[in-house]
Amino acid sequence: MPSLSGKVATPDGVAENNKEFQLELFPECRKPAKKAYFITFEGGEGTGKSTQIKLLSEYLHSMQINNIQTKEPGGTEIGQELRRLLVTGDKDKFDAVAEALLYYADRRIHLTTKVWPALNEGNWVLSDRFADSTVAYQYYGYGKRVSRELLDDLYKIAVGDFKPDLTIVLDLDPKIGLERSLKKSLSMAVKETRHESRALEFHNNLRKGYLEMAKLEPERFVVLNADKNIEQLHIDIVQTIKERFKL
Ligand SMILES: Nc1ncnc2c1ncn2[C@@H]1O[C@H](COP(=O)(O)OP(=O)(O)O)[C@@H](O)[C@H]1O
Ligand SMILES: [Mg+2]
Repeated sequence: MPSLSGKVATPDGVAENNKEFQLELFPECRKPAKKAYFITFEGGEGTGKSTQIKLLSEYLHSMQINNIQTKEPGGTEIGQELRRLLVTGDKDKFDAVAEALLYYADRRIHLTTKVWPALNEGNWVLSDRFADSTVAYQYYGYGKRVSRELLDDLYKIAVGDFKPDLTIVLDLDPKIGLERSLKKSLSMAVKETRHESRALEFHNNLRKGYLEMAKLEPERFVVLNADKNIEQLHIDIVQTIKERFKL
């Protein structure tokens, strides 16, 4: 058994000393697979991520591109239990570090059991949130009370060199997004409104955080104005995908 200490399994770009571990976890890595992309959707509450992922998935299927839709937290069965802890109940029930650790536990399970296997089989993966959400919420949202280094270290341990091929940020005034989100929650049996219950300042901070992250990594991020109707935003997303991946 290879040691797990300090070793990270990723489907590509793996350091030589990680190879044995990687092949053991992902035997399918041995086969050359068709290039598949990992696309993440980011943005505050109610910006339209879930709505747009569904539409993009249907569009890609219509183009004969195999893809799966998934989300964080809660993209896996165990993750659903972590999701319940993370998005329901009192906003102050965890400190920000404990919260970040729980998100990373969900992320690691999500990557190893769902995202990487799907990519290795040639499916595009569309994820409703990924690691940028942890930076936006646990770092920027909380007014930088958690150190950025801690979050970057967690990323290295749980995710390694792997990163999204494209991250689409849906940018919207939180007042509009929160209103949409709280309206949607009225029809939900389990109220996933733990983050919605935070002060507007928190949501304004995380919006600014996303814009700052996008500026620092323009080759990965695209920011779209989400203050438009569902169909129009879908057209913008399809345009972005066509440009980025030469479809
Ligand atoms: N462009 C839009 N204009 C108006 N309402 C929207 C738009 N996009 C989504 N909605 C509605 O707002 C609510 C939140 O959308 P959702 O896609 O769940 O956002 P998110 O996943 O980002 O929280 C849903 O009820 C959805 O139908
Ligand atoms: Mg959603």
